Amino acid sequence: MLSADQFGELDTPCIIIDEAIALANIRRLQDHCDAKGLAFRPHIKTHKMVDFARAQMDAGAVGINCQKVDEAAVMADGGLKDILITFNILGAEKLARLRSLAGRVDRLAVTADSATTVAGLSGAFADAERPLEVLVECDTGAGRCGVQSPAEACDLAAIIASSPGLRFGGLMTYPAVGGAAAAAAFMREAVEKLAVAGLDCPVVTTGGSPDMASAAPLGVFTEYRAGTYIYNDRSLVERGACGWQDCALGVLATVVSIPAPGRVVIDAGSKSLTSDLLGLQGFGHVAGSTDTAIVSLSEEHGVLHHGPADNYRIGQRIVVIPNHVCVVSNLFDEAWLMKADGELVRAPVDARGTVS
Ligand SMILES: Cc1ncc(COP(=O)(O)O)c(C=O)c1O
Repeated sequence: MLSADQFGELDTPCIIIDEAIALANIRRLQDHCDAKGLAFRPHIKTHKMVDFARAQMDAGAVGINCQKVDEAAVMADGGLKDILITFNILGAEKLARLRSLAGRVDRLAVTADSATTVAGLSGAFADAERPLEVLVECDTGAGRCGVQSPAEACDLAAIIASSPGLRFGGLMTYPAVGGAAAAAAFMREAVEKLAVAGLDCPVVTTGGSPDMASAAPLGVFTEYRAGTYIYNDRSLVERGACGWQDCALGVLATVVSIPAPGRVVIDAGSKSLTSDLLGLQGFGHVAGSTDTAIVSLSEEHGVLHHGPADNYRIGQRIVVIPNHVCVVSNLFDEAWLMKADGELVRAPVDARGTVS
C-alpha cells in the first residue's frame, strides 16, 4: 500500500508510483486474458510511458492501444511495433502524421464510425505500400462514438473493404461500465451480418478496467483492452474492481495550512488531482485515512475536512489516490518510481501532453 513515509523528502506535489504494484497489476490481467483465451492490448493512455508499454508487451500483450496519433508516435519511437489507435482521425495534417507513423511500425490500425472518416483515411493511404487496417467503432451503450446498430456496422465495414488503401480489420467497442453483455449481444449480431455479407471479421475488441472480469465468458470477443488497471484508482476501488493495496500511483502532497479545526489544506489542487469526480463525492482518497474527505479544490490548493479519527499537522506529507488516474499522469512531466528495493528513480511520462 502506498504511504508517504516511503518517499522521503521529495518535493511536492509529485506523482509517485510503486513499480512492484504496477507490475503485479500487469501480470494479473495478462494472466486472466491468457487463461480465458483473449488477446490483451493495454491502453497506454493511462501511463504514457514507453518502459511500462514494453513491460506490458514482455508480459504477453499482442500490441498496444493508443488514443491519439502523437501518443502513438512517441510509442513507435520507443520501439512499440503493433499499435491500434481507437479514434476517428480527421484532417489533412493529422492524416499525414498517421501515414508517416504507418511506415515506422509493423502493424497500425485505427477505428472509424462514419463514411467521412473512412474517406479521409482512404485518401491518405490510397497510394501506401501497405493498406491501413480500419476497425468499425460500435456504440454498444456508452453513448460516445460508434455506429448505432449492427446493420450500420456491416454497412461501414463494406465501405472500408472497398476503399483504396484500407483493409477492414474488425469491430471495436468501448462499452458502458457494466455493459459487457449488451456489447456482446451487439457484436454477435454484427459478426453474423458481416458473415452474411461475406466480410471476414478477424478482430472483435472490447475493453475497460471496471469490467475486466466479465467480458471473457461472453464468447464473441477476441481481444481485450484496458488502461487504468495498471495503476488503478479510487473509481476502481469504489466500484469493487480492486483494493487500495492495488493502487500503484498516488499524488504526494504536503499539508501547508490548518486554518481551522477539522480543515486541512494541501499543496495539490485541480492542477495535480484534476477535477474529475467520475460520479464520486470528493476529489480523491487520502491513503490510510478513514475519516477524511477532499471536499474542494482550487488550482493549487486542496481542502480536506476530517473527523476525530484522523489527525494532521502542518508539514505532514500525505498520499492522495486520485479519482481518475489517467488524467493525473498526463499532468506531470515525470513521476517518481519506487523500485522493489525502495530506490526512487525519476521516470519521464514520455507521451505526456500528446493530445492530438
Ligand atoms: C477506446 C478505449 N479503449 C480502452 C480504454 C481503457 O479503459 P480503462 O481505462 O477503463 O481500462 C479506454 C479508456 O478510456 C478507451 O477510451
